[in-house]
Amino acid sequence: MLADANNLSSKRILVTGGAGFLGSAVVRELCHAGAKVTVLDNFSSGKKEYLNNITRTNGLSVIEGDICDVGNVEKSMREMELVIHLAALPFIPDSYYHPRDFFKTNVDGTLNLLLAASKEDTIERFVYISSSEVYGSARHVPMDENHPTLPHSSYAASKLAADRVTFTISKELSLPVVIVRPFNTFGPNITQPYIVPEIIAQASTGNGELWLGNTEACRDLTYVDDTARGIILSAICPGVDGEVINLGSGSSISVKELATKIASLMDKKVTIRNDTTRLRPFDVGKLVCDNSKAKKILGWNPRISLDEGLRRTIDWARGNSIHFQSPFRNWYRINKITTVVHSTLSRG
Ligand SMILES: NC(=O)c1ccc[n+]([C@@H]2O[C@H](COP(=O)([O-])OP(=O)(O)OC[C@H]3O[C@@H](n4cnc5c(N)ncnc54)[C@H](O)[C@@H]3O)[C@@H](O)[C@H]2O)c1
Repeated sequence: MLADANNLSSKRILVTGGAGFLGSAVVRELCHAGAKVTVLDNFSSGKKEYLNNITRTNGLSVIEGDICDVGNVEKSMREMELVIHLAALPFIPDSYYHPRDFFKTNVDGTLNLLLAASKEDTIERFVYISSSEVYGSARHVPMDENHPTLPHSSYAASKLAADRVTFTISKELSLPVVIVRPFNTFGPNITQPYIVPEIIAQASTGNGELWLGNTEACRDLTYVDDTARGIILSAICPGVDGEVINLGSGSSISVKELATKIASLMDKKVTIRNDTTRLRPFDVGKLVCDNSKAKKILGWNPRISLDEGLRRTIDWARGNSIHFQSPFRNWYRINKITTVVHSTLSRG
């Protein structure tokens, strides 16, 4: 729980993308702290069931709508005090084929929210959830907020564009903003075929083979509740307006090591095989977060270890059927990856 929960009691907070993986963890924590939360989500990947177990007596309301619809955004923004903006198209491989959709949602959608927020005189802070992907592959480790930005995908380019437009609009229209750059996050309530659920799903087959892309790639993995707490602290800590803040564990693991660790936690013997169809055209080799700024100005520390977080995620995956829905019709991950996940988990 948050030490600063008192600052949230009855606070009117708009959370975009609040039905998603990370968003629903943020909403759960805010509602527990007594905030009056409004979720704006089009449910393209987010799920109503992720909000069902959050008590509505705590003041949760849900608007089903699109951040690309200006009228809808302006209506949702009325009388809000805090905005936490997570809604986005987040799955990198989709962005290779749908860059326009990524820019429409991730950049234009963010601009709609910023302009609507700047018209409301009740807004105390707008928190934009950017991404460590804006940095590209590490030129030095760990990576602080001044690390050069070199996006390696249309997704990352759209996140950087929205990150920078948030910064400049805050100056032009005097909107108090904080920009948060989470590194890779994992945990229950998954919505996208990210690397951790992908490995868990394949390890569940029992045929002992894990087909993976770039197994040398290294990622900094943070448990979802830790990332969510850091996001909320960014919304309520005094004196951090205008800051860019990394959230990450501070250590990195290769995909190969991660796969071996997950298999061992699941008590499975596996052989790792290279699936060249999964290789990314311009992959990020390594990400390692320098989280000293978040520690210093937010008092944030990751609390859940990688092993403990993986155990919780595996337990969740065993008790729930993982189901990914893509915003894109007839897109291969529905036909290919989702089929693998469904069939593997049902056999696991
Ligand atoms: N998960 C990570 O590792 C990670 C790391 C860094 C940054 N992020 C950022 O965190 C945010 C949430 O990511 P996530 O992993 O929870 O993904 P997610 O797909 O679970 O969440 C995105 C949410 O936005 C909603 N959404 C998408 N397009 C929308 C639109 N046009 N209008 C309204 N709602 C829309 C989806 O339905 C979903 O609920 C994203 O901005 C992502 O870029 C995630």
